[in-house]
Amino acid sequence: MRTPLIAGNFKMFKTAAETAAYVVELRGLLRDVNGVEVVIAPPSTSIQAAAVAAEGSPIGVGAQNIHWEREGAFTGEVSAGMVRAAGARFVIVGHSERRTLFGETNDTVNKKMNAVIAAGMTPIVCIGETLEQRDRNETLAVLDRQITEGLDGVTGEQLAAMVLAYEPVWAIGTGRNATPAQAGEAHFHIRQRLKQWFGLESAEHCRILYGGSVKPDNIAKLITQPDVDGALVGGASLDPKSFLAIIRGAAI
Ligand code: PGA
Repeated sequence: MRTPLIAGNFKMFKTAAETAAYVVELRGLLRDVNGVEVVIAPPSTSIQAAAVAAEGSPIGVGAQNIHWEREGAFTGEVSAGMVRAAGARFVIVGHSERRTLFGETNDTVNKKMNAVIAAGMTPIVCIGETLEQRDRNETLAVLDRQITEGLDGVTGEQLAAMVLAYEPVWAIGTGRNATPAQAGEAHFHIRQRLKQWFGLESAEHCRILYGGSVKPDNIAKLITQPDVDGALVGGASLDPKSFLAIIRGAAI
């Protein structure tokens, strides 16, 4: 049985003070919520404030990106060890905005994912097709490539503990979410591939989130899909009340 996970991706929103206030409000709202795991990934300057405000609560804190090297002359970057020391336990890797705006490839995704695991954190590895790829019927092939290249070298045990996020690029920030059937089909395919490549048991443990315009009014249908284990939420995670409504919609 996989515990549903709802992760909020704040993107480039909220200062440290704003994030701390958010966490204080959210932890109050979560007091009577069970059966779902909650993570927020604020900007790296807010990780420490989030972790301090979340201490002793069920809210996990994540980073949105890291560099794969431990340290070095990489101006503007932060390492996995650094975000972990600031309080992060999860790291989003390979978000489509990182891939399209900042040139990330399956190869850099692989390096970052390994660095996250080596630092003792949980990677949330994002995969998903663009609209052109969907229109050309390439969705499943694109997912296969992102999994084989992005997760190259991963052991079954590591896979079991990690999180994948299926995020069709055309659904991110557009208000146009995948239908439950479209999400269900992609998630089923991903799970089948994971079984094939990493073994049945590991594949059954790995959580696969859906991401892309998840809102309080569409989470309930998405989560009923057997292979949808939660959501990676952008815009609707920025307000604690709408995030809470999504969390409640996914609780078992
Ligand atoms: P959205 O973003 O919920 O605003 O579509 C999702 C994401 O980018 O992870």
